[in-house]
Amino acid sequence: MKKKDFTETNDVLMDTYLLNNIKENLKEVISNKRYIHTMGVVDAAVYLAEKYGENCHKAAIAAVLHDYAKDFSEKALKEYIKENQIKVDDILTKAYQLLHGKVAASIAEKDYNISDKDILNAIENHTTGRKNMSKLEKIIYLSDFIEVGRSYPAVDELRLIAEEDLDKAVLKALDNTIVYVLSINKLLHPNTIEARNEILMNIE
Ligand SMILES: [Fe+2]
Ligand SMILES: [Fe+2]
Repeated sequence: MKKKDFTETNDVLMDTYLLNNIKENLKEVISNKRYIHTMGVVDAAVYLAEKYGENCHKAAIAAVLHDYAKDFSEKALKEYIKENQIKVDDILTKAYQLLHGKVAASIAEKDYNISDKDILNAIENHTTGRKNMSKLEKIIYLSDFIEVGRSYPAVDELRLIAEEDLDKAVLKALDNTIVYVLSINKLLHPNTIEARNEILMNIE
């Protein structure tokens, strides 16, 4: 059977076959805990998409795939990157946990025939954010931090901001991430700083 191209028609966009197919395969590649997190991100992303006028099906597909490669080992991530000739910078190579977004986006494209660039970008950039994120990218980035299973000191405040203003919520999530990354002495990717500065410059 020919694989379906998710973006071929709106009918296909409406098709839950792809979503269910990904969910089944997801159970094989990530832990149960991560699977529950992913389902929380799907719910949050669909909620935010509805709220802020984005396509809910695109949000669901990007969300369900965002952590597809999260439980891959460092070796598996780096082998995948090499085999598929994916470009990575020094910081991504060193802070290899950040690579799971790029690998998941490639799997989405190659294994699930997803050709919608916005979905692929949302999956790829959920680990760092980037300058000029699309609405869908912002929704996936934010959903990862506010899904129902998340519990950390600032999550309630972030959920409240998410109800009011998408950009302000993404800015807060970026700020929280930057503070956290500095507190644990880890490498901070420049895309995260660029995302933060760009939103801050354009916010009212
Ligand atoms: Fe992730
Ligand atoms: Fe996640």
